[in-house]
Amino acid sequence: MKRVLCIGRQGQVAQALGSIEAVKEQVTFLGRSELDISHKSSIGSAINRLAPRLIINAAAYTNVNQAESQSQMAFDINGTGVQYLAELCAERQIPLIHLSTDYVFDGTQSRPYVEEDVTHPLNVYGQSKLQGEQAIMGSNVEAMIIRISWIYSAVGHNFVKTMLKLAQAGKEITVIEDQIGSPTSALDVANMLTMLIKRFARGEPFHSGLFHFTARGETSWYGFADEIFRQAMELDLIASLPDLKPISTEAYGAALARPANSRLDCSHFDTLFAYDRPRWQDSLRQVLSQLAEK
Ligand SMILES: NC(=O)c1ccc[n+]([C@@H]2O[C@H](COP(=O)([O-])OP(=O)(O)OC[C@H]3O[C@@H](n4cnc5c(N)ncnc54)[C@H](OP(=O)(O)O)[C@@H]3O)[C@@H](O)[C@H]2O)c1
Repeated sequence: MKRVLCIGRQGQVAQALGSIEAVKEQVTFLGRSELDISHKSSIGSAINRLAPRLIINAAAYTNVNQAESQSQMAFDINGTGVQYLAELCAERQIPLIHLSTDYVFDGTQSRPYVEEDVTHPLNVYGQSKLQGEQAIMGSNVEAMIIRISWIYSAVGHNFVKTMLKLAQAGKEITVIEDQIGSPTSALDVANMLTMLIKRFARGEPFHSGLFHFTARGETSWYGFADEIFRQAMELDLIASLPDLKPISTEAYGAALARPANSRLDCSHFDTLFAYDRPRWQDSLRQVLSQLAEK
């Protein structure tokens, strides 16, 4: 019997989790048409039907730019929806693993952020995700809130796929050099979730609380793009290196504020789970290799 429910079937992380053989037999994935997190009754009936022993919430409103004009929807899904989920899980004593984001921070700090650092989101997406975290913390649910960052995969819309499209179009590419973080593949997150599912299945203690999890190492968006193109050349995904230029956030002049420092200190996670996080460059190669095989 499947004991784990993962919400957000079509998302990058959920798809990566669904690709892992070891979890396929244990996890039911539901998409928005089967479970709409912004409707409490929809969550309730899915829980009644499936009677999960553990829930993973990989669903979210993730369009950071559009969230500014669709703030109601972002808060309904990332805030109120998560509150409904937390209330139902608390009532039924189902532990919850919820994914959150580096965007709860303003990025003004010079060191990597630890879990206890003060949150101060710069945009609606970050505010809505913070509301979700607070709803979980304000309920009695047993929950792990895991903040992740800079997610990409071979499916969905993400920075890696955008860069490859631009390179294939032969355009000059200008990328921000003064925002730093840790690119993390959806598969990195899925492998980490698999470890947690296996622990749960073995009956090991569930560790509630806030956690940070990213791939190992850090770079800027410019450094990330540079590495994407270097590896893409090696894998024959692009015919030539594009004309890549660094630009400052200020000169780029984006309408939306994003944190300059998105680095998350993952030592709490490392210590508790003795988990060997992959280097971001190695995970990137894995994703680009998947794209090269397509
Ligand atoms: N992407 C990043 O860079 C990033 C960075 C940090 C943290 N995170 C967090 O990591 C988690 C997973 O991100 P991701 O990149 O895998 O997201 P994603 O690819 O955008 O997938 C999100 C999924 O949530 C679903 N969803 C949206 N509204 C829903 C609703 N009302 N009810 C049920 N499902 C709904 C979407 O369904 P539809 O396909 O029907 O829209 C989509 O399949 C999210 O919590 C996100 O906030 C992401």
